[in-house]
Order: sequence, then C-alpha cells, then structure tokens
Amino acid sequence: MPSLPAVVKRSCGALRAADVGAEVELNGWIHRRRDHGGLIFLDLRDRDGLTQLVVDPAEAGAFAQAEALRNEYVVRVTGTVRHRPAGTENAKLATGEVEVAVSGVVLLARAEVPPFPVNSDEDVDESLRLEYRYLDLRRAKMQRNLTIRHKIVKAMRDFFDERDFLEIETPCLIKSTPEGARDYLVPSRVHRHEFYALPQSPQILKQILMIGGIGRYMQIARCFRDEDSRADRQPEFTQLDVEMSFVDQDDVTSIMEECIAYVWQRALGHEIPRPIPRFTYAEAQKRFGSDKPDLRFDLELRDVAGAFLGTPIKFLQEHSTSEGSRIVAVRYPGGASLSRRDFDALTETAKSFGAGGLIWLSFPADGWKSSIQKLLDDATVATIQEMTGADEGDALLLVAGSALEASDIAGKLRLHVGERLGLRDPAAYAFCWVLGFPLFERDPETGGVFPTHHPFTSPAPGQEGLLESDPFAMIAQHYDLVLNGFELGSGSIRIHDADFQQKIFEVFGLSAEEIENRFGFFTKALRYGAPPHGGMAWGIDRLAMLACGETSIREVIAFPKNQVARDLMMDAPSPVAPAQLNELAIALKGEAKKP
Ligand code: AMO
Repeated sequence: MPSLPAVVKRSCGALRAADVGAEVELNGWIHRRRDHGGLIFLDLRDRDGLTQLVVDPAEAGAFAQAEALRNEYVVRVTGTVRHRPAGTENAKLATGEVEVAVSGVVLLARAEVPPFPVNSDEDVDESLRLEYRYLDLRRAKMQRNLTIRHKIVKAMRDFFDERDFLEIETPCLIKSTPEGARDYLVPSRVHRHEFYALPQSPQILKQILMIGGIGRYMQIARCFRDEDSRADRQPEFTQLDVEMSFVDQDDVTSIMEECIAYVWQRALGHEIPRPIPRFTYAEAQKRFGSDKPDLRFDLELRDVAGAFLGTPIKFLQEHSTSEGSRIVAVRYPGGASLSRRDFDALTETAKSFGAGGLIWLSFPADGWKSSIQKLLDDATVATIQEMTGADEGDALLLVAGSALEASDIAGKLRLHVGERLGLRDPAAYAFCWVLGFPLFERDPETGGVFPTHHPFTSPAPGQEGLLESDPFAMIAQHYDLVLNGFELGSGSIRIHDADFQQKIFEVFGLSAEEIENRFGFFTKALRYGAPPHGGMAWGIDRLAMLACGETSIREVIAFPKNQVARDLMMDAPSPVAPAQLNELAIALKGEAKKP
C-alpha cells in the first residue's frame, strides 16, 4: 500500500512553486478573508509572511469551519500546495505563486474585533497602538523593525566576540551615583530606609571591570534615567556599552568605527564610506551650529560679520566687531520665491529657536530684497552674496548674537531649511565623529563648573595642571558618534588616577564627605592598580530608529513608555497595596498627581 504523503509543518512565508503537491500544515492568524465565487479565500499570517488559502465547499468540514473565521482568529490548517491559477499570481508576495487547497481547519483561538486594522500599516493613534501593543506588534512595520533591531544587536555581539571582548552583565540594583539625570530609586525591604538605584549606565561598573583585569568588556545594557521623554529618549533604554584597557582615543574610535561599519553591513547590507569624517567640537559649532551635525546635506553656515563693519545698524555693527559674537547666514536654496508671509513664518520659527528676530535677504532675478531693505546698500549685499555663495533665486537667513546663541539658532534654522527642502532623507546615513569637547561647562545659574560629559572623563594629555587655573580651557578626551543629526553615542578616555579623580569631584563643589559617601567605593578601587582605560556607549534604540528610517525610538522598542513615561498596556506606574508600602516602611505624602 502506498504510504500517505507526510504532512509537514511550514511557516506562512515559506511555500514556493517547488512545494507544489506537498501536504502541509500551517499555523497562524487570519490576515484577511474574502468570499469569492463560492470559495473562501484566506490569507494566513505569521512572522515569516502570508500564504493564500482556498477553501472549497466540497471540503464540507473545512468549509463550515472556515465560514466562522474572522480576522485575527488563530488557526491550524492542513492542505495541499498548488499553483495559483495563471494570471492570479502575486509578485509582491514571496509565496505569491502558490496557494494551499485546504482540507482541514482547526480553530485554535477566537479574537475580539481589533480596535485598529492589523493587516495594514495605516496610521493609528499612538496611544491606541501602545494600549494594544500585542496587536500592533503583529503589524508588518513593527515586525520588520524588531527584526532589524535583532540583527543589529546580533552583529554587535558577533563583532566584539570575534575581537576577544567578554560580555559581562552588571547589576541593575546599584548605589545611587547620579550621572546627570535623576535616578530611579528602589526601596530596600531588608535595609529599611535605604535605597538602591537603577543604573543610568554601567559607567562606574565597567571602569571597575577594567580595574578587575577584564581588559575588553561589552554589554547590551539596560539603562534607566528619570528624565523627560522625547522622540529620541525613553526612561528605560538600551546601550551597547564598551570599555577597554591600555587604549587611547584613536584605539577606541577606530574599533568603534569598525564596529558601526560591520553592523551596518551585516544588519542592513549597507557600506558606510570610511574613514567617517571627524570634526572638532568648535568646528562643528562653527560650520553647522551643532555638536551633532546632520551631514545628509551641506548648507554650511557662513560668517558674514565682515560685511557689517561699517553698517548704520547698531546691533549688527556691535556683533560684527565683538569678539564673542557671530553674524551667521543660512542659505535657503530657491528661497527667493518665498512670499513675505513665508518669511514672517520663518521669523516666528527663528524666535521659537530663541532668536530675537530674523533678517532675511533674497535674490530674485530682478535685484535683491530684504527685511532691512532700507538699511542695506548694493555693495553690502554684494559682499554678503560673495561671502555666502548665494545664487540668484536663493535667500539668506541671518542671525546675530553671542557666538554660542547665534550658532545654535542658525544651526536649528539650517535643519529647518533642510527639512523643508526634503534634504533630510530618512534612507540616507551620514555619520561623523565629533571630538575635542570642552571638559567642563559653566552652570548658567551658579556660574559653577560641571562636566560636559561625566566626571570620569580625562582631559587631553598634559592639561591636568589647568584644573585650578583655567578649567574652562580644558579639552576632554571625549568623542561622540553622530548619525543624521542624532548623537548615537559618546565615550571617553577615563581618569585612572585616584587623586586626580578626587580633585575633579572637588571642582564640582562636592565636599570630602560627599565624595566619600557617593564615590568612595570607586576612588578606593582606583587606588588598587587601575590601568589606563576608555570606552564608549551607543544608544541602541536611537541606532535602530535611524537604521529603520523611523523618527521615534518607540517604533523600535517592543514595549515603550509614552511621552509621560507611562506604559499604556500594563498601566504602569500604578498604586500599590498599602501592605507592600508598609513592608517597605514607606508612607505616602500629599495628593496623587498626574503629569
Ligand atoms: P551618554 O549619557 O552620552 O553616555 O549615553 C550614551 C548614549 O545613550 C543614548 N541615550 C539614550 N537613549 C534613549 N533614551 C535616553 N534617555 C538616553 N540617554 C542616552 C544616546 C547616548 O548617546 N556611560 C556613558 C558612555 C561612556 O562614556 O562610555 C554614557 O552613558 O544614544
């Protein structure tokens, strides 16, 4: 007796013409159902793809089952693979040449009517998507994004494994040693009135791993920061965290550059042109008005102070001669066709960036126009045009102010113009390094010193002596990797001398007692033979967001928090039972508050 053909379990994306004739079992969700010419057509979906099922009334049992099926029901079907009738193939689907003639249907689970279509990527209110994230995760975009994210993380692990790094997990319950943001605190039941903190990053622990002789460390590390959420920020996020001993800045940046090229190649099949361009912090500010320049387009800022040396316009004259000032022009290609109303709107935009006002100048074919028409003359305009390379048909947006302010506002205007002109292509990747940051910034309120990055960053070799005399002149051995205007990651060569580390803490105004209480364990460790070391951390969520061409990191996180740090699916945070609080010796003060 001939043996019956074996039924083989297949995924919904697997079947091809070569499978025609096979008896298969498929499991998945009903993606779409159509009744046509007495037949029932079903698209069955799993993570791997879609397969068209055809149920014929002649298969009475299967047909009766199929009639009851609705979108998102979970089923197991058995049937025979066959060619689709000529002319009905679907070239857009990997399985589009075949269909399965169904002989058996088992209903595994019914589903409520979903609150939004799962079978399309049409726009849906984000709150609804987050509340029903399990349905959202079934949609094609989230499946694609999470797959790319997986590939990115896998490539990172492979890269460092091939280079003899150890992946080491550092704890999530640690001592509160704030790194800039607020800590999330976890009360201890055993040690009443004491708290752990969730790590803002594994910074100190990875440095201690170097003191512990690990030499080359990496981790896909979960970090927690109680700061306001933004499109590129979450309270809980993931870093690729790396640290190495006996390295200098070039060693770290070159291995990390190799890594990003490897990851982009492996995960996206994209070759990153190398070397990745490098800018000093000062150069990036001057040319792009940002320490994270978006290099997908040029429109470099131009200094035009020289054109206003003899101007009757007082504030421009002042800014043209003052050493700490800049008058910066942003070129707007094609901007001469903008109306006065458009320029008014641009002025409002500039004000929203912090500008007091905006001067515009445009170059239509029949001369020039400006918001300060009466105060300019042909010679000045000609000089400005020459300084900026503005062509006929262009416009210029001019900002004057302190160098820091004018650069910042002009940098934002540059991005705005780039955005309006469609120059910020989400499918393009423009990386750069920014190095040579100042070691310290001045606290705008107190005038005090605080670290540009974090307090463990080493100054440039030989600059230690400036700490007392001129701290703001010190340059950090700190480097950022930037992609498309986002800071992907930052790192530095660390201080490995306990006394110098102690002095740095003192410069921030910490008393000897505070240093001992907060960082004593760390300065102690530094006294036991700390090797020179350095490293870097990249935000994996940001990296995956940009790799996927998304504009929010929530699109590449399975279960993100919303803009006010709430998990809408689980409804967290939430009140806890009084008994739980009692156990922790916690009493709640005041009224409950929603943001
Ligand atoms: P830093 O604080 O610059 O450095 O963080 C490194 C990178 O982590 C990402 N990132 C975030 N991503 C999402 N949500 C957030 N709230 C968030 N905060 C930071 C960014 C950022 O560039 N320990 C140091 C690194 C080091 O010196 O080795 C650190 O954490 O992409």
